[in-house]
Amino acid sequence: MQVFVIIPAAGLGTRMATGGQAGQAPKQFLELRGKPILVLTLRAFLQAEGIHQIFVAVRDHEIQRVEAQLRQHRLDTARISVVEGGDTRQESVRNALKLLPAKDDDIVLVHDAVRPLIDPATIERTVEEVKLHRAAIVGVPAVDTIKQVERTAGGAIITSTIPRERIVLAQTPQGFRCDLLRRAVETAADDGFAGTDEASLVERLGIDVAVVPGSPRNLKITHPEDLALAEFYLHQR
Ligand code: C5P
Repeated sequence: MQVFVIIPAAGLGTRMATGGQAGQAPKQFLELRGKPILVLTLRAFLQAEGIHQIFVAVRDHEIQRVEAQLRQHRLDTARISVVEGGDTRQESVRNALKLLPAKDDDIVLVHDAVRPLIDPATIERTVEEVKLHRAAIVGVPAVDTIKQVERTAGGAIITSTIPRERIVLAQTPQGFRCDLLRRAVETAADDGFAGTDEASLVERLGIDVAVVPGSPRNLKITHPEDLALAEFYLHQR
């Protein structure tokens, strides 16, 4: 059994609209402490035990630039393949999955390029949970009270309050037995279903997905202010 990783990194980062280095590059290529976010993310997976191969999905025109960047930062390029992503995160993962030389019972982890603060121990725990449950994702309990809303022209109106103890905020990595992830991704494509993570594609097949406790530090760099927080966490390491 081998462990493969897919890093979708083909996003355009449209929410990173102002401030910092924004406007110059999609967020996965912005730098933290002098290193591109994608490079930091890849380092964590290269450091984790037992990772066989990593597939990074980027825009077609960025493949060569990313390959050069990986060499420049002296990453173990023998274990990394840079492939073409798609117009949505789900398509990026689907494209990479088609190229993955993985067998049915191998494990595939999917991880956002823009979560560079993931630690190798959490990656390894996720793999162990997938061995037990076939599907496992990293998640953190909600600290805020969660409201369901209806969007209005002026903003939003609350329609209900969801009990906080029943909420987990989904992060990545999200790991699956390869045959299960392939079936989930292809079924979603056939049904025209678009999910914002891989677990949702597996859940709709009626399969249980386990949750591995994560950390709020594994933040998804989305808005300009997230960069300062990520710098702070990196500095503390
Ligand atoms: O847009 P979102 O925040 O959900 O992006 C999560 C991850 O998916 C990012 O690493 C982003 O680069 C990636 N993505 C992708 N292909 C897209 C859109 C997003 O690989 N078309």
